Amino acid sequence: KIKACLFDLDGVIVDTAKYHYIAWRELAKELGFDFTEKDNERLKGVSRMTSLEILLEIGGVTLTDEEKLRLADKKNENYRTFILKMKPDEILPGAKSFLKELKAKDIKIALGSASKNAMTILERLELTNLFEAIIDGTKVSEAKPNPEVFLKGAEALNVQPEECVVFEDAEAGVEAALAGNMRCVGIGSASVLGKAHMVVDGLHQMDYNKLISLEKE
Ligand code: G6P
Ligand code: MG
Repeated sequence: KIKACLFDLDGVIVDTAKYHYIAWRELAKELGFDFTEKDNERLKGVSRMTSLEILLEIGGVTLTDEEKLRLADKKNENYRTFILKMKPDEILPGAKSFLKELKAKDIKIALGSASKNAMTILERLELTNLFEAIIDGTKVSEAKPNPEVFLKGAEALNVQPEECVVFEDAEAGVEAALAGNMRCVGIGSASVLGKAHMVVDGLHQMDYNKLISLEKE
């Protein structure tokens, strides 16, 4: 029986990828190379430091660990100037009404995000109090596809993994859900998220009945 929903943040509840892209592109520019929107796809669901590693690999740049930390901080400072300006109208279509429907049906709700900025974003979107548990990049040591972030969410909600449905837009996130023995709804394209139990374009296509159809017999 499904008792809880665990939500990824970036790409599921809000589109922060565009702000990440601007900040990474500026950093690449300073380092003297181009960073395209297609390159940006590779950073979805990936931690900040791993994103930097990928960026440097694209630019063919080698740096010391100290330099890498400095640049990751710099990118984050820049990224934060964008998210600090976010407003509730940036919540993706259908997300808030689905969260509210789940609440009304007594389905527990948690966040499972790799981002260390998740609290700031939820506050800006005025969504914080819809979540009973918030597991973000400050609380996990293993990145997706490791299931840690979702297993911690299930534990915080006091439910079993088999009773959880994860909503994810990144392939690594879908893999994390499956590795954690959870049901998973992919948000985006079936060609990328084909391993999920169901794929939809966005949360506007979800409702309680569709959720319950994911229950195993
Ligand atoms: C999410 C995003 C990634 C981002 C990561 C870390 O998973 O999809 O693009 O790199 O969070 O975000 P942070 O806010 O901690 O830099
Ligand atoms: Mg995501």
